[in-house]
Amino acid sequence: MNLTEDEIRELIKEAFDAREMAYTPYSNFKVGAALLTSNKKIYKGCNIENASFSPTICAERTAIFKAVSEGNRDFRAISIVGGKVNDTNFNYSPPCGVCRQVMVEFCDIEKFMIIIAKSIDEYKIYTLKDLLPISFSNKELESQ
Ligand code: THU
Repeated sequence: MNLTEDEIRELIKEAFDAREMAYTPYSNFKVGAALLTSNKKIYKGCNIENASFSPTICAERTAIFKAVSEGNRDFRAISIVGGKVNDTNFNYSPPCGVCRQVMVEFCDIEKFMIIIAKSIDEYKIYTLKDLLPISFSNKELESQ
């Protein structure tokens, strides 16, 4: 099911809202994500850093894990915005490899849409398959 222009704009706006909550004392790079489920719920996430660095979690996984932990695993799209704390002009901030792998776990790679945005009006949309064309999934774990 394709996203409407209104849905895209709302998701980008929610990602900017989520970014406000980012906890980033080490990188000062703030990311926000907004995840749309098939039943039209939106889960927001931000990146949360840690003094020990590796426990840091990305905005995308925060949003996905919030949804999964509340029983929702049917995802349509995610929007992502990111930039340094004082940036006014944003660059596109694509999802890292770990987040793409987590998306593979829960999403239909040909249908799930990833919106990366600089602003409400400037965005690019990819499918998960565009961004991770050859992936490792639960299919690989099935016996031959
Ligand atoms: N980050 C995200 O939140 N999402 C990504 O997909 C890439 C990176 C965060 C992690 C870290 O807090 C900061 O951006 C700099 O890497």
